[in-house]
Amino acid sequence: MDKFKIRGGKRLHGTVRISGAKNSALPAMAAALLTSEPVTLHNIPKVRDIITMSKLLAFMSARVSAHEIPAESYTIETKSMNDAVAPYELVKTMRASILTLGPAIARSGVAHVSLPGGCAIGARPVDLHLAALEKMGARIATEHGYIQASVPNGGRLKGAHIVFEKITVTGTENILMAATLAEGETILENAAREPEITDLIHLLRKMGAVIHGEDTSTLRVRGVEKLHGATHSVIPDRIEAGTFLIAGAITDGELTITDCNPGHLGALLAKLGTDGVSVERLEPSTLRVHAAKRLVGSDVTTEEYPGFATDIQAQYMALATQAEGTSVITETIFENRFLHASEMMRMGANISIDGRRAVVHGPAKLSGTTVQASDLRASAGLVLAALVAEGETLIERVYHIDRGYEAIVEKLQALGADIERLHATGS
Ligand code: UD1
Repeated sequence: MDKFKIRGGKRLHGTVRISGAKNSALPAMAAALLTSEPVTLHNIPKVRDIITMSKLLAFMSARVSAHEIPAESYTIETKSMNDAVAPYELVKTMRASILTLGPAIARSGVAHVSLPGGCAIGARPVDLHLAALEKMGARIATEHGYIQASVPNGGRLKGAHIVFEKITVTGTENILMAATLAEGETILENAAREPEITDLIHLLRKMGAVIHGEDTSTLRVRGVEKLHGATHSVIPDRIEAGTFLIAGAITDGELTITDCNPGHLGALLAKLGTDGVSVERLEPSTLRVHAAKRLVGSDVTTEEYPGFATDIQAQYMALATQAEGTSVITETIFENRFLHASEMMRMGANISIDGRRAVVHGPAKLSGTTVQASDLRASAGLVLAALVAEGETLIERVYHIDRGYEAIVEKLQALGADIERLHATGS
């Protein structure tokens, strides 16, 4: 398994381009299963989860073409689809594989998708996806570790009034996609409002779907018989942009962050402002972050969009270890998302955990050691901590970070960080 070796203490300077959003690209690729015509997607990030999704779609009888893989553009064509299976071997490496369930059952009336199971950050059930599909007329059984979904008599799903008990991002995306081909109208209440949902709505509309209510928690979908091909460019990755904003602030550097959408970063920008970090908007899609004169900790609670994203919590914790005073970080989305805290503590951070609250006292002098990445965003938090730690940090299990950050080593090196990848077979 590859590792990262990071020698901390360098101020980061320069310009970094933000890649396309993984969490927009994945549902967009799954949406291509809804039509027999080609769907071309641009601004796709070159990350491991995209490769997993392309393998999965190919397994489900799609033709996935790109100049090379990984690529920035893909064309996906699913001429026909019967008995689609999303096998355990692929689903276990990427929970977002569940995004194929809605499109597959809507298109072909039957789908077999492996149950994703839990992951390091929590149990992460998919009960809300399944209950909504049942309400739309699907028969769902879970047998031998698989979700076996079918529409009786090979018919179409039926429009329904779905009220999500809890806000779920991929749940909203799955049902939105299923509803585009259902008979009649589907109303989704308490739907997620993440920018990635709006991006999916834009793609689905280009494919001929009729959807109202974007950016709100009530979505209305009037089902159509067929969707057609489309071309779409996915939005920038707001989590990657947020990670680089924090990288600039934590290393006392100055970074220009291009090709991002500042409108999607409201909660983080407000929080950084409170903490003393100055972020300027140079152009509509360019931000510049300057080191704080005095970095002061403040409290943060993760929430669904437009609140503070759980996917930036680990990175914010790294920043909080360097801020003066006490920061209380409350995680409300996932039950076990503080695994990075114990690794940061091993580096010298002063953090205490009490259930869903982490209390961080700063500033702490961090020192390099060997740490383990436990999930995608936790790894990013550890990279940030390592960038300010004294001496050398070795981060193990970086396959987690490769799932969702494009060329993170190269991007950080170009900004002056002392980071290298140690390949499993070499050094
Ligand atoms: C998506 C994102 C992930 C992000 C998360 C929260 C993708 C591919 N992944 O994950 O990066 O961290 O949103 O912003 O977009 N829940 C249930 N039952 C369900 C579904 C969800 O109880 O059927 C719970 C989950 O366990 C969790 C909460 O709802 O506690 C939110 O999860 P959800 O929004 O579904 O996360 P994902 O869509 O898996």
